Amino acid sequence: MSNPQSSNHHAHHAQRTTMRIERLEWNDGLLLGHGPMDDEHREFVHIVMALRNSTAETALAALAAVEAHLISHFDLEHEWMEKTAFPDVYSKCHRDQHDEVLASVFQVHQLAAIGQIGLGAVHRLAQSLMDWFPGHADYMDSSLSAWINGKTHGGQAVVLRRNLVHESRIPGGESKNLVEAKAA
Ligand SMILES: [Fe+2]
Ligand SMILES: [Fe+2]
Repeated sequence: MSNPQSSNHHAHHAQRTTMRIERLEWNDGLLLGHGPMDDEHREFVHIVMALRNSTAETALAALAAVEAHLISHFDLEHEWMEKTAFPDVYSKCHRDQHDEVLASVFQVHQLAAIGQIGLGAVHRLAQSLMDWFPGHADYMDSSLSAWINGKTHGGQAVVLRRNLVHESRIPGGESKNLVEAKAA
C-alpha cells in the first residue's frame, strides 16, 4: 500500500487556487473508482446545481437539501476513513475541509431562514461549492477512494493528483430578502 498522498501533501495548506466554474456537470472525469463515493458525488453535483439555479421561492428548500446531503455525504466518508484506518494525518485535513464547508452552509441557511440574506448570497454559496468541489474531489476524495479500493481489493493504491484546494469564501448578503420573497 502506498501513501494516499504524494510528498507535497502539506503544500495544500499554503496554496490557494481559485477556479471559477460556470457550470458543474457530472462527467466521467469526476469518477474516482469507489462506487458509493461516486454516487455521493453525482448527487452533490445535482443538488448544488439546483441551489445555483434556485429562485427566491425555492432557495430555502434547496439550501435544506444541500445541508442534508452534505451531512450524510461527509458522515459516510468519515465512516469509511474509520473503517479502513485511513491515516490520521490525511483524515484530519480532509475532515477540516468538510467542517469548513458545512459551517458556511449552516451559516447561509440560518441567515436565509430568518431573512438576513437574500438570493444573491445563496447563489454565491452555490458558486463557492461548485468552485470548491473539483479540487476537493481531485485531491482529498481521490486519495480516500484509492485507499478504500486498495484496502478492499488488495490492489496498489497510487494517486497522482493535482494539488487543488478551494479558497473558502463566506458569502455576504445584499439581495432580495428570501423570507419576504417566499411570503410574497
Ligand atoms: Fe466527497
Ligand atoms: Fe471529502
